[in-house]
Amino acid sequence: MTQTDRQDRVLIFDTTLRDGEQSPGATMTLAEKLEIAEMLDTMGVDIIEAGFPIASEGDFQAVSQIAGRAKSSVICGLARAKMGDIDRCWEAVKHAARPRIHTFIGTSPLHRAIPNLDQDQMAEVIHDTVTHARNLCDNVQWSPMDATRTEEDYLRRVVEIAIKAGATTINIPDTVGYTAPRESAALIQMLIEQVPGAEDVIFATHCHNDLGMATANSLAAVEAGARQIECTINGLGERAGNTALEEVVMALKVRNDIMPYRTGVDATKIMQISRRVAAVSGFAVQYNKAIVGKNAFAHESGIHQDGMLKNAETFEIMRPEDVGLSETNLVMGKHSGRAALRAKLQDLGFELGDNQLKDVFVRFKALADRKKEVFDDDLIAMMADSTSSAGNAVQVKFLRVICGTEAPQSADLTLTIDGQDRQVTMQGDGPIDAVFNAIRELVPHKATLALYQVHAVTEGTDAQATVSVRLEDDGYIASAQASDTDTVVASAKAYVGALNRLEVRRGKSAPNVLDAARA
Ligand code: KIV
Ligand code: ZN
Repeated sequence: MTQTDRQDRVLIFDTTLRDGEQSPGATMTLAEKLEIAEMLDTMGVDIIEAGFPIASEGDFQAVSQIAGRAKSSVICGLARAKMGDIDRCWEAVKHAARPRIHTFIGTSPLHRAIPNLDQDQMAEVIHDTVTHARNLCDNVQWSPMDATRTEEDYLRRVVEIAIKAGATTINIPDTVGYTAPRESAALIQMLIEQVPGAEDVIFATHCHNDLGMATANSLAAVEAGARQIECTINGLGERAGNTALEEVVMALKVRNDIMPYRTGVDATKIMQISRRVAAVSGFAVQYNKAIVGKNAFAHESGIHQDGMLKNAETFEIMRPEDVGLSETNLVMGKHSGRAALRAKLQDLGFELGDNQLKDVFVRFKALADRKKEVFDDDLIAMMADSTSSAGNAVQVKFLRVICGTEAPQSADLTLTIDGQDRQVTMQGDGPIDAVFNAIRELVPHKATLALYQVHAVTEGTDAQATVSVRLEDDGYIASAQASDTDTVVASAKAYVGALNRLEVRRGKSAPNVLDAARA
């Protein structure tokens, strides 16, 4: 980095695939992780934290394959302060043109109590592990987890040790989302001013959103000298999530007058990746979410619409197209062809290869047969349907429910399990209960239903419903979203989708939820 770069360039470190995916229920498959990583790389994210290689074989594979494919982003893997973790991390990231090892340890009194280390013992571990990481890789990031609740004198001491041992980036995490903007700035400023060697490293800020201050805290840290922001798409992450990439990138763009810093991110790719992350993680974006929420650019009140028609700047501080949202009124229908669908999806931010387009076109035709007009929101919901992959072990083949005023309701269901059709008829207290009982009969499992949510995609009686289902089994959580003009069918697909994802989540480490169905 040149001196000017150091002054105004803020590196964007995306951890959607590590801290984001760590969020209970946000499971992604290997193919989905590769796709998201490619999008991050293309949109100009500086560093992609691709996973935690020691955590599982799946994480290791994801990090090493992302490392092998990345074109310009630095690819980073996470490792605890353990030699085995760091070695495994290096094995995964070394395939990258620009690899980074990120090693961390909890330094606050509460976190030091877990491994039962006193300050001196922990300082030695930090010295040894950062030295080891630096011997493997010349790009090493070190994080004192729970930094914002660590004694300041101890924090200064360990940051200095990490710098002397070879760390090139020092990340200051607000692990529990406890800090506030002024405090966040003061902490970074104190470290930059008081730690010997601070001028030779980049300081990073890593905030969680428990008090809704993650974006403000990250920007305050930048104003105090941090030059790397750690964030996730849609603010995905454990509990209330991490700093949202789209918020910090757009805040730095729109308020460049008072925050004169630049990122390398192409903001016009934001909507596209936001929709894709929502789809593959199963975490829908709240309607009023800043930048990427469905209502972020909607102006419905009379006064607003009037003002907008006269001059968009009356109520708009940024234009929808700045984040890749293009307004098109072209409604699709069953006579729309493949080229029109491709163009429409492109407008909505979905770039499809020929094979993908073939598959999507079949789904679009099926939808258009049932629905006269296919709106933008219908297509977005169709693209967000995470249950349609041909590779899924279990698929919904046929469903018919009988319901009405007389209980019980019944569901006649055929599932294809590993290529074989299985049929059952079950009753329940309502059609959804009957369908879920039928799925449980065909795929016996102990998973409990942690979330069941239905949203109408558009208005009208032929509107599609998007159903989200989250299942929990023995500490493993998986979610899925499905859309259909029939709410019961969408529910069945979402439930089965979550079961398929539970299998991915558990990997090879535990008995498989689908084993009983295969027996
Ligand atoms: O929140 C946190 O402290 C983390 C560290 C592993 C950097 O995610
Ligand atoms: Zn975190």
